Amino acid sequence: MIAHAQEWFELLARWFHVIVGAAWIGTSFYFNWLNNNLRPPDPDEGLDGGIGGQLWAVHGGGFYRVLKYREAPGELPETLHWFKWEAYLTWVSGVTLLCLVYYLGSDGMMMDPAKPALGKAGLVGVGVGTLVGGWIGYDQLCKSPLKERPLLLQALGFLAIVGMAYGLCQVMSSRAAYIHVGAMLGTCMAANVFFVIIPGQRDMVDAMTRGEQPDASRGKAGALRSLHNNYFTLPVLFIMVSSHYPMTYTHEWNWALLVGFTVAGAAVRHWFNLRGQGHRNAWLLPIAALVMVALAFVTRPPAAVDVKETVSFVEDIKPIIESRCVTCHADKPSFAGYFVPPGGVVLETPAQIKGLSDKILKHVVLSDYMPLGNLTKMTPEERALVGQWVRDGASLK
Ligand code: HEC
Repeated sequence: MIAHAQEWFELLARWFHVIVGAAWIGTSFYFNWLNNNLRPPDPDEGLDGGIGGQLWAVHGGGFYRVLKYREAPGELPETLHWFKWEAYLTWVSGVTLLCLVYYLGSDGMMMDPAKPALGKAGLVGVGVGTLVGGWIGYDQLCKSPLKERPLLLQALGFLAIVGMAYGLCQVMSSRAAYIHVGAMLGTCMAANVFFVIIPGQRDMVDAMTRGEQPDASRGKAGALRSLHNNYFTLPVLFIMVSSHYPMTYTHEWNWALLVGFTVAGAAVRHWFNLRGQGHRNAWLLPIAALVMVALAFVTRPPAAVDVKETVSFVEDIKPIIESRCVTCHADKPSFAGYFVPPGGVVLETPAQIKGLSDKILKHVVLSDYMPLGNLTKMTPEERALVGQWVRDGASLK
């Protein structure tokens, strides 16, 4: 009953996370686009002299006109929209999911027997430390004198991401390592909104209400954090979807693949930013595409080796599936903590095994995602046998 409730809670948290995340990214993309497309108004239009840009749009059967002030309007309107809840709720639902799937979920989601035995609690400590420490380190870096040298700051930040990706992949299950790098970046993004951007805006509004000049340094700090958030978006989204692609995080060079995706994502974002500012850059997209081709090449499946003359389903394969998979993948799993077949996958009858043979190849032979955390201690020879059986046509004889 508790497991069922947890599963439902997880479903709702995931659904909510995607909804508020889409709203956050949507507003962020929209305002970026807006800033790039505002045009100075025609003096003949007789608009308020403080207006620096305007834009007309048609959407959903309505006509819209947006005006942007160079600094601030003479008088503030009663209602001002802030756009902050999208960010906060994305973070809250993301951390809820992290707890449900990784911290409270099956041990295999966090632990990997091939890595140092830190125990589940130790790994949760490392995970939480990554989120909190990542933000404190990043925030201090942005407040240090380096803030005057943004390129150096960004380069150091990038090296820190490389270091975190490498370090986490050495201690926790690689899927958990990936998600923690993503959650760390997402935490920095949401904390940028909460601790820097919104307080800065509030300060500006307060100063204006008092009839004083707003402190320009607050605006500058907010702009730097907004810029970082802009570049984090695509890499973070990659990490969030990567959990569906074990060929990335289970690869021997998983940390380097993560860095490759980060570079490609930031390059694509940079291309859009430049284009928005009217610069056409011919190289960034081809470079990002080349990085993708290189990553696809690096993750290509190893050459298939036959381990036996003929592999028999009854003698070779069925016993392997029964001992390594069925404890979890049964109608009524016997593995501690499982109450329903995970991923909806049941491998109890020959027909079920054959029906899923392509997925088995993907998760057991081409990557070592399954058995989860190798909790049932499958051997490399067994993986090779399963691979040969699938390649030979997955016969049930
Ligand atoms: C310790 C429990 C456990 C064991 C043992 C285990 N699995 Fe899984 N399996 C899981 C969990 C949990 C999921 C769901 C993971 C997810 O949502 O990505 C899963 C998902 C799957 C999926 C579906 C993935 C998808 O693409 O949706 C397949 C196929 C699979 N396992 C095959 C196997 C095979 C084959 C074995 C044995 C070699 C095995 N599993 C052993 C826990 C286990």
